[in-house]
Amino acid sequence: MKALLVEATAPASSANLGAGFDVFSVALDVLFDSVSVEVVRRSGIEITVEGTEAHLVPVEPDKNTAGVVAKTLLDLSRKKCGLVIRINKGVRPGRGLGSSAASAAAAALAINEALGLGLSKRELITFAAQGEIASAGFPHADNVSASVLGFFTIVRSYKPLEVIQLPLPKNIEFVVALPEIIKSTASMRSVLPKHVELSDVVHNVGHATTFIAGIALNDVNLMGKGMADSIVEPARARMFPGIIDVKLSALEAGAAGVAISGAGPSVLALVKAEKETIESVAKAMKDTFEKKGVKGQIIRAKPGPGAKVVRREKL
Ligand code: HSE
Repeated sequence: MKALLVEATAPASSANLGAGFDVFSVALDVLFDSVSVEVVRRSGIEITVEGTEAHLVPVEPDKNTAGVVAKTLLDLSRKKCGLVIRINKGVRPGRGLGSSAASAAAAALAINEALGLGLSKRELITFAAQGEIASAGFPHADNVSASVLGFFTIVRSYKPLEVIQLPLPKNIEFVVALPEIIKSTASMRSVLPKHVELSDVVHNVGHATTFIAGIALNDVNLMGKGMADSIVEPARARMFPGIIDVKLSALEAGAAGVAISGAGPSVLALVKAEKETIESVAKAMKDTFEKKGVKGQIIRAKPGPGAKVVRREKL
């Protein structure tokens, strides 16, 4: 029997987008993880990680998002084989850009094909979300939905898991400020309030629906107005020095809306795709981080496609 190798890639994603905690997410077209999977006769799962900040990613299968996906899919297949998984990180871990989700999504696609499971992309989201337990302690499906399907996704329901994909206006771009601060999603979920005020729920429902109304009406400014969260973001903003200043400076420079990206610490600005506005928002975010003594990187991104299989080989 010849060994089979399948490789898939999956993009970074930015979850929440303001009031859509654990529900909204967008796939970005700039940073990708690649996962190759080799089916081998010996049992067990072996993981190696290379690429950007690979040292931050655990290789123990039960602590690695791709490892958890592999175990679940291998059990489902009932095959008596093992998997050798090689992860190449392009998405920087611990920045709120869906790094663990990108590995989980790419692993789900590659393993599905390597084991001949024939699962659809939507079915694979459930397995990829299981992988998130390893990183967040909770199977939140927002990042993996966007990372698997691409573009903008809404987790309509967790039980059963149901995801809606919505096209976004063509004239949008994102500017993302990534500070040199690393925070695990689990630690950023531990600071969240256990109980919330009804008035904050009203605020968030109003804003999340405004974001969607902006998409439906092709109105980028309305989308931006909807990017405000009075439940999760205030609790997290306290953990990141300078984050509110970065947000305000991006809005002053012309961003339509600004939110902490996922669990943070990155900040995502939604901008109309006009060169001047994009450049002034990028400069404002960079300058504000510098003024606050926070080192960081600024990237520009557009909504992008989801995970795909890029190689199949009999070894
Ligand atoms: N919705 C998740 C959270 C995203 O905010 O914890 C993590 O990237």
